[in-house]
Amino acid sequence: MFVPRATSGCSGNPRVASPTENNYSFLKAMTTERDEKFMHAALNEAKKALGQTSPNPAVGAVLVINNRIVAKGHHLGVGRDHAEIECLRDFGALVPARATLYVTLEPCSTAGRTAPCTDAILKAGVRNVVVGATDVNPCHSGKGIVQLRAAGVKVRQGILADECARLNEAFNKWIVTGRPFVIAKCGMSLDGRLTRPAIEPRWITGRSARRHACEVRAHVDAVLVGAETVRADNPRLTVRGAHRARQPWRVVLTRSGKLPRRARLFSDQLAARTLIYKGKSLANVLKNLGKRGITSVLIEGGGDVLGQALDARLIDKAQLYLGPILSGGPVIAFAGQGAANAANALRLRCVSYQRIGQNVCITGYPGAFPWG
Ligand SMILES: NC(=O)c1ccc[n+]([C@@H]2O[C@H](COP(=O)([O-])OP(=O)(O)OC[C@H]3O[C@@H](n4cnc5c(N)ncnc54)[C@H](OP(=O)(O)O)[C@@H]3O)[C@@H](O)[C@H]2O)c1
Ligand SMILES: [Zn+2]
Repeated sequence: MFVPRATSGCSGNPRVASPTENNYSFLKAMTTERDEKFMHAALNEAKKALGQTSPNPAVGAVLVINNRIVAKGHHLGVGRDHAEIECLRDFGALVPARATLYVTLEPCSTAGRTAPCTDAILKAGVRNVVVGATDVNPCHSGKGIVQLRAAGVKVRQGILADECARLNEAFNKWIVTGRPFVIAKCGMSLDGRLTRPAIEPRWITGRSARRHACEVRAHVDAVLVGAETVRADNPRLTVRGAHRARQPWRVVLTRSGKLPRRARLFSDQLAARTLIYKGKSLANVLKNLGKRGITSVLIEGGGDVLGQALDARLIDKAQLYLGPILSGGPVIAFAGQGAANAANALRLRCVSYQRIGQNVCITGYPGAFPWG
């Protein structure tokens, strides 16, 4: 039974809500709970293609009738149908008026590589739509929702909006600024060093933490390193383990141009996906990568490049793996000028700590969440 709850009015005097108000808030809470449950399912759909859709966003949709999911769909990648279309095709019939379509991102309303989803939604007979995040692209933002409402469709929006937006943080930054979303990642010792003496095994973090770190590559368009990392480590910078994984571009910065020709990056099967930038500032490199349609860049070190990213405030997200070791030595994780004072240091927000074996993975975002 629903029990009336004491609420505070603007005057600050306690007041008991009327039964009508209570019924309304009860129904609203029930609707929100149901909406969140099905939006979660739509998010899970979207995640199936996370990292595969660039430069398009990852989007998921589910169709619900009588509290049951009757169809699902997600966007598979550029040139493929959008999530709403996949979902309606999965249903395969005219949609009854009592059905609700849940979609993690506002349906598109203009023709691009594919026809507008708003048209398909109306044509299929959908009368209720629940939207997660609105489109951040100023050219499209809100238009899909307005179009659907104008055609008499009931639209609820903003359900799990933060989660839905965060899923496409890289796309959101790139579509608005033209520059890629930058993740700074490294494995470091507790004293902030990147390497161990040359005669020892070079790893600072354990195997499971390194595997976790490698998985980030599957979700970005490019991985970037400085030339010294290529000379010292001869890395592959590939996604491993996943069958037919989409491999990121590999980007190397050099001033001297002294790069070992036999290095894996220049001689393996993916050599055509390695880009070398000679004598360019990191900011200009990122701008150029954005122009190439690269929406996200993972900077994997070394300390010189990470330091430049920090000094120039180019980092959108930090993902740092700490191993339980004090190393000392010259290769500092974020070299560079450093902040002039504590107030100007980069303070992370929405920080999360994950223990992986004996290591800790710390992720955080500098400043507010403009893209998620
Ligand atoms: N623990 C980890 O997660 C991790 C990750 C990566 C690397 N590492 C280690 O870090 C060490 C390397 O780090 P590091 O700080 O010495 O070097 P680095 O950052 O890997 O590379 C520095 C070099 O990159 C080039 N470079 C940097 N900024 C540039 C720019 N804006 N434009 C053009 N070229 C630019 C220059 O190459 P040129 O000299 O060719 O001009 C510079 O000497 C290695 O020992 C590696 O094993 C560890
Ligand atoms: Zn669409």
